[in-house]
Amino acid sequence: MQLLDEVAVIVGGSSGMGAATARRLSAEGATVVVADIDEAGAKSVAHSIQEDSPERKAFSHYVDVSCPESVSQLRQFVADQVGPVEILVNTFGIAEFVPMLELTWQTWQRDISVNLSGFFLTCHAFGSQMVQSGRGKIVNFGSSASLSGVPGMVHYTASKHGVLGLTRALAVEWAKHNVRVNCICPGATTTTMMLNATTEAWRKQRKRRIPTGQMSTPESQAEVVLFLVSSASQNLTGAAIPTDGGSQAMTAATSTEALWD
Ligand SMILES: NC(=O)c1ccc[n+]([C@@H]2O[C@H](COP(=O)([O-])OP(=O)(O)OC[C@H]3O[C@@H](n4cnc5c(N)ncnc54)[C@H](O)[C@@H]3O)[C@@H](O)[C@H]2O)c1
Repeated sequence: MQLLDEVAVIVGGSSGMGAATARRLSAEGATVVVADIDEAGAKSVAHSIQEDSPERKAFSHYVDVSCPESVSQLRQFVADQVGPVEILVNTFGIAEFVPMLELTWQTWQRDISVNLSGFFLTCHAFGSQMVQSGRGKIVNFGSSASLSGVPGMVHYTASKHGVLGLTRALAVEWAKHNVRVNCICPGATTTTMMLNATTEAWRKQRKRRIPTGQMSTPESQAEVVLFLVSSASQNLTGAAIPTDGGSQAMTAATSTEALWD
């Protein structure tokens, strides 16, 4: 039990890597708050955690991270009903392929408000209490799109580069308050988001260009989150960890696969 009685808020916890993270941190003794715009999904994850192990505490709450009032309400709920937060994991996000010249101002704004401003709002809301208590760990989900450009995803790439910038600046600003802030940069991971945003053909081609030959699973990403919020990483902050089967380590120039086959 590495996280006994620590309170962990997982924003975007109703599916994919967020749900896997909620389960993993709970298995290590954390009290988890599963927050998501999908309220029914969040309830169901919290419920299944408690059903599996009645001694564990799991809460759920609605949040729309693109709305400051909604994030404020989540913070108030956690303060009133759960307790001081030691761990914040931001796993929410939206993704769709839209080529630049078809990208509308509305789509751009929606993407930035969820995928970037949402991180500002949650870090601000829960970070203030962490700074005050002199203790906290934040994990932000970036992407391989935090480290390189993805064609057809200019909006997503820009927001994910922003998440990494926010993470690094906060890590440096809050290090003296004992608040660690790290970024996980997943490559293709088998979640609903990825399955909905891509085609079978895309996935087949993508897999062939991952050095390990495997896409990550939500559970394997949750193990990295656990490392980042546990004492095993106590002097690690401001890091961007590519959890992508080695893809970032291999540029197109060093790939053994042709780019245009
Ligand atoms: N799956 C991948 O291949 C992949 C790759 C790289 C990065 N990522 C990133 O990892 C994170 C988790 O992705 P996932 O694949 O588990 O996705 P997912 O779609 O399974 O989960 C994302 C969650 O975010 C929630 N959400 C969306 N908009 C929200 C809002 N406005 N307010 C609150 N919650 C909202 C959704 O309801 C959903 O539960 C995301 O930040 C994503 O960008 C995913």
